[in-house]
This record gives sequence, structure tokens and C-alpha cells, in this order.
Amino acid sequence: MSYKEFSYFYDYFNYNADYDTLFEKILELAKEGGVKNGIVCDLGCGTGELAFRFNDAGFDVIAVDYSDEMLDVLFDKRDELEAYEIQILKQDITQLDMFGTVDLFTCTFDTVNHLEGAGAVQQLFDKVSLFMEPKGVFIFDMNTRYKHENILKNEVFDFIDEEADCHWQNTLFADDYKTKISITINDKHAGKEYSEEFFEYYYDLETVLEMLNKSGLKVKKLIDGETFAEINGETQRYLFMVKKEQENG
Ligand SMILES: C[S@@+](CC[C@H](N)C(=O)[O-])C[C@H]1O[C@@H](n2cnc3c(N)ncnc32)[C@H](O)[C@@H]1O
Repeated sequence: MSYKEFSYFYDYFNYNADYDTLFEKILELAKEGGVKNGIVCDLGCGTGELAFRFNDAGFDVIAVDYSDEMLDVLFDKRDELEAYEIQILKQDITQLDMFGTVDLFTCTFDTVNHLEGAGAVQQLFDKVSLFMEPKGVFIFDMNTRYKHENILKNEVFDFIDEEADCHWQNTLFADDYKTKISITINDKHAGKEYSEEFFEYYYDLETVLEMLNKSGLKVKKLIDGETFAEINGETQRYLFMVKKEQENG
């Protein structure tokens, strides 16, 4: 799935997302895993909210996404912030190809759920394992099965705002562990309407752990991605801190 017109409204309708707090937590987890600086690669970077924060914090940043429209927004923000050091790669993260290894991989805000099924997630984990420094850290989140089946379900959300309205419709396919998301944006300024549809896929925790294991990755810490407390049966987003299998630290 690649965001298209919705990209231009991603930040607009995402204003409730607390990237500052998420970023601080990611830094804390990275340190806990032994990475304090170096090269960070943000996978499925979207409009670059994390990438810019990493840049400010002194990391060498590589931001990867395959959506032209998301990257257009990122380029505009990079120019505006004069953060030209950020290296931007247009790539499918399941086919990631890099010149060297990185110290820290991140992949947030349900990007892993956007990949088309378990095979694609496995490919991503393999690539991370391949291009991560032996002592590197991988931090990613995932919407849980609980969230898809109990919160997102077949819900409809309407966001009414000054510049644009957004109609968000979920359709759950529980047998297939996926939810179809249909978005319609009414751009009031341009007088245009855009529609996009994509799927989010979800997994049982055991399945994710098996996939990580197959790629030689081991979970060092797993917490609730919203409260940052211990996970429980009603956790809506997992936040994983993962290292390579052979590492003990
Ligand atoms: C929900 S957004 C999250 C963006 C960003 N990580 C954030 O925290 O705001 C998901 C992003 O993943 C990107 N994406 C999805 N599948 C991808 C793939 N296979 N390769 C590269 N980018 C992908 C989309 O284009 C989109 O920008």
C-alpha cells in the first residue's frame, strides 16, 4: 500500500500523534539496547517526523519510504527546516538495499501492519537483520490483534476540520487477520474529493516472535506502545526493542 493524495493530509489529520513522547521513548530503548548515536534508518518514514527529531539529536539519518507523495511532503519539510543532512531513499522496505550497515533501525506508526502479509514482514525482518550492525538495535511497533478486532473493527470515524474533512471506514476481515481501511478526503480549498483504500494486516504475538526468530532477531524488550507499560490482553500497539540473536548485551 502506498499513500497517495492522503499523504498531503497525513500531518493535518495526525495532529494528535505525540511524536515527541514516542521519540523520547525510542531514544531510551535504543540506549538500553546499547545504541546512543551513529546511523539511524527510519523505515516507512512517511512525512519524516521521527527522522527530523533524530537529525536534531545528532544521528546520521537515512529515511526510507516508497510513496512519492509521502516523500514529497518530507522533501518540503526538509527544505523548510534546512535539514539537508537527512538522506532520503525511495525504496520498498521489504526489498531494502543499502551501502552499509546501520546502528539503529526504526519502523513506527503501524508501518509493519501496512506490509502485505506475513511474507512481506518476514522479508523486512530479514533485511533489517542483514543491514544492522552486530550490536545494533531495531525498534518497531505494531497494532495488535486486540485493537483490530475490538477497537478498529468496522468503525467509522469522521474528522471535520476547517481545510478538509476526512471520512474513515474500517472493514474487518477477521478470518484473514486484516482490516480494509477506506479513506475519503474532502479538500475544501481545492474543492476536490479523494478516495484511497488499503489493508492493515495483524498477527498474533507468537507469530511475530517466530518471524523475528527466523530472521535471527531476538526481543530484548516488549512494551505497550501507547502507555509504555507492560503489555496486557488489551494492549492496542506493541513496541518492540530487538537485537541480533548472537548478541548477549
Ligand atoms: C502509517 S504511515 C507511518 C509513517 C511514519 N513511520 C510515522 O511514524 O508517521 C506508513 C508509511 O509506511 C510506508 N510504507 C508502507 N509500506 C511500505 C513499503 N513496503 N516500503 C516502503 N514504505 C512503505 C507508507 O508509504 C507510509 O508512509
